[in-house]
Amino acid sequence: MRNTVIATSIMFAASLCLVSVTTAFAASADARKDYVLHCVACHGVDGKGNGIAAQVIPGFKRVDLTQLSKTHGGKFPRQEVYDIVDGRKRLPGHYDEDTDMPLSGLMFQTKGREFSTESEAKVKQRVSALVDYVEGIQEK
Ligand code: HEC
Repeated sequence: MRNTVIATSIMFAASLCLVSVTTAFAASADARKDYVLHCVACHGVDGKGNGIAAQVIPGFKRVDLTQLSKTHGGKFPRQEVYDIVDGRKRLPGHYDEDTDMPLSGLMFQTKGREFSTESEAKVKQRVSALVDYVEGIQEK
């Protein structure tokens, strides 16, 4: 009887672990896919800026995304990164107009329903997930 209780508790604990791992993985899997599709060419697989662009475009400026917390006094500059990735605040001429950075805030809009509340909500979700991803690769 006692063994059954222990075995059941272990199985229950294991299933909880599995659920949390699966949930965490599902959330980051989408962001990882977006990162690989839309960011890797310039920022590299590990975020250190060794993407294909640095190899094929002469003088391409390498941007290391793993040092953002370090260069901001140990605190990840979440809002700043969000605005840079969304990109729309750049449009009136803030930040760097000549940047090669894609405008995810426009790119991730739902086709045919651009700028609707639902479309904006999806953009926010995808950009936030990318920001989480970038936060996750920060070097301490
Ligand atoms: C075509 C090349 C290119 C692509 C693709 C690209 N970036 Fe960038 N990224 C840059 C450049 C170049 C800079 C440096 C700022 C500038 O010159 O505009 C930059 C800057 C950044 C910064 C600010 C870094 C800092 O030091 O403040 C973040 C954050 C960033 N990129 C995240 C991303 C994410 C996330 C993606 C994918 C959605 C992405 N980038 C896609 C070229 C790119």
